[in-house]
Amino acid sequence: MTAEPSIPVRIDGGEEEAIAGPASARPVSSRAVLELRDVTKAYVLEGVVVHALCGVTLDVNEGEMLSIMGPSGSGKSTLMHIIGLLDHPTSGTVGVEGEDVVGMSANQLAAVRNKRIGFVFQSFNLLARTGALANVELPLVYAGLGAAERSRRAREALEGVDLGDRLRHTPSQLSGGQQQRVAIARALVTSPSIVLADEPTGNLDSRSGIEVMALLQRLNAAGITVVVVTHDANVARHGQRIVELRDGKVVRDALVTDRLFASDELVQLGMNTAAGADAVGAKAGGPA
Ligand SMILES: Nc1ncnc2c1ncn2[C@@H]1O[C@H](COP(=O)(O)OP(=O)(O)OP(=O)(O)O)[C@@H](O)[C@H]1O
Ligand SMILES: [Mg+2]
Repeated sequence: MTAEPSIPVRIDGGEEEAIAGPASARPVSSRAVLELRDVTKAYVLEGVVVHALCGVTLDVNEGEMLSIMGPSGSGKSTLMHIIGLLDHPTSGTVGVEGEDVVGMSANQLAAVRNKRIGFVFQSFNLLARTGALANVELPLVYAGLGAAERSRRAREALEGVDLGDRLRHTPSQLSGGQQQRVAIARALVTSPSIVLADEPTGNLDSRSGIEVMALLQRLNAAGITVVVVTHDANVARHGQRIVELRDGKVVRDALVTDRLFASDELVQLGMNTAAGADAVGAKAGGPA
């Protein structure tokens, strides 16, 4: 058996120390990349106040894969919008990679978001009449990259999710699972350090859902911090830690002791697809 790869891990004070072990067992850094302190969000709609978040304090550590669960209306999407800098909290503070973002202007927020955060949504949010390649290129248009570089990076991102042969297909010419993989490629094309996925498997059959989780676990094994919102306990078990919300509050925050690995599930299903096979490689510490 070959030696396990050495993985540099940041320890408390920021010193790097090499810890040997498979990527799946990689200790999570204790450096918080997302720091929420007493975050509240109140929506006012036609004079009625809805308290969507009621004092959420939460750290998400670098390299962590965190699942957020909770019943409908408990504030999961609201929380994702705030940690994704798509929305302001009513009160409290939000730190992203050590920067306090609450006082930032819309332009500054957009810059942090574009550089550091990738989003994956339940409904894919792809442009309907646009091919996969152009959909994935879009964030690079906003980033001001030239056409050739955009196309090269988008193609690479699509190849990374096993869709190198679907570059010109529009969303309606792709399966749900393929559309979600295009959306993941779009989230990754700007090389974010954090990927936020709100119910990424919500509109998928179970096999496509496992393929999407295999991809997210593979990104996480490559060092990207991943936060997944789900109401499905099995999807949540693909993370290392589960935070549960109820009525806008954190009611549970626990490590997963019986973690699921999507690559294993795909093998069990006899579907060792390219995405699954890659995920197997990532679990064994292979390149992303
Ligand atoms: N833009 C808005 N204006 C007014 N109220 C809102 C708005 N967005 C969300 N809410 C309310 O805030 C609460 C939390 O909503 P949120 O979308 O965060 O829930 P969720 O946990 O994501 O639910 P689901 O599982 O159904 O997606 C709900 O009561 C919702 O009605
Ligand atoms: Mg929601």
